[in-house]
Amino acid sequence: MTSGVPFGNYQYEIYLGGMAGQVPEHPMSWAQWEAAAEAKLDAGPRGYLFGGAGTEDAMRANLEAFRRWRIVPRMLRDVSERAMGTEILGTAMPAPVLMAPVGVQSILHDEGELASARAASALGVPYIASTAGSHTLEQIAAACGDGPRWYQLYWPRGEELAASFVARAEAAGYTGLVVTLDTSLLGWRPRDLTGAYLPFLESVGIANYLADPVFRSTLPAPPEEDPQAAVGQFVGVFANPTVTWDDLAWLREQTKLPILLKGILHPDDAREAAARGIDGVVVSNHGGRQVDGAIATLDALPGVVEAAGDDLAVLLDSGVRSGADAFKALALGARAVLLGRPAMWGLAVAGEQGVRTVLRSFLAELDLTLALSGHTSLESVGPETLVRA
Ligand code: FNR
Repeated sequence: MTSGVPFGNYQYEIYLGGMAGQVPEHPMSWAQWEAAAEAKLDAGPRGYLFGGAGTEDAMRANLEAFRRWRIVPRMLRDVSERAMGTEILGTAMPAPVLMAPVGVQSILHDEGELASARAASALGVPYIASTAGSHTLEQIAAACGDGPRWYQLYWPRGEELAASFVARAEAAGYTGLVVTLDTSLLGWRPRDLTGAYLPFLESVGIANYLADPVFRSTLPAPPEEDPQAAVGQFVGVFANPTVTWDDLAWLREQTKLPILLKGILHPDDAREAAARGIDGVVVSNHGGRQVDGAIATLDALPGVVEAAGDDLAVLLDSGVRSGADAFKALALGARAVLLGRPAMWGLAVAGEQGVRTVLRSFLAELDLTLALSGHTSLESVGPETLVRA
């Protein structure tokens, strides 16, 4: 809740505007947002945002998994007062919702991550900054102001560079480290392949590298003088397919921040994470962008939650498209959801205001779903609130 006002009251603001002859400037349905973003973007960025791996089967499966669970609302309960606020690994948030790490956002809007970070922070929604940002993590931290923020690490080749990213994130006030594990190589993405479109090769989305003292020390000339050499070096260090479980001990020593592993889909991997002193996991298949045919995250969630027990905070992303979807993930044991593509539709269509409207709508839907299903807080939302369709 922001200043004690339930998020659901957003609708009254809109209807009151209607009495004064105003209708919302932005889309109010998710389908309209998606269509507006699709229409606005050029082919390259459009394919990058909307595309998935291979036949895009995992991307579809993520959405379909949510349709297979239905909410069973309960009646005659006082739902006038509601609280959605929560705290995860020391970070307080007004609702169990965070912005998923999304890189290279300047291909969607000129202000890129800065617009998204400002929109999230204005609502107190934690912003997860990607290593592959179009702006540096320090610039994004400044855009967040006092807003909560976590840093997402793509574990690069070279311990010194990895340590530098982590140290910079700590210094810039990030309070959680999300290590994305599912991108040890880039997935096979036909839409991007068709246009031979990879923005990083045009120096877009590599700001964190170009600004990094360790990265710069490995270059024959500063990136400002020889951008091609910097891109070449980036290509060599970006992905690190050699990383294994044993390397986590090294990472654990680098930082006091809570560490979450993003991309966990198997219960045994959750158990391994807990045994290695990890604090949380994000059940994710990268929005179906990495392994075509991968298990839908909502299908993977119950097994991971059971394996995690009380040892790990379990979060989920991939396919969350509405407040109802968030409710279902929370009911099946996720502590919070990460919002990915829908926030980027907002960014593409209307920059900071677009992301803000998307987030407010999403939070309003979640609050109203909670209330209208008979709940006043997240604690009472368990698996018994759902049935298999
Ligand atoms: C991503 N995702 C991602 N993940 C990550 O850890 N670092 C990154 O830089 C990116 N970049 C990125 C770009 C784009 C355009 C998309 C769509 C996704 C994955 C992201 O964090 C999240 O897992 C997915 O977006 C979830 O899927 P949906 O719900 O957006 O379909």
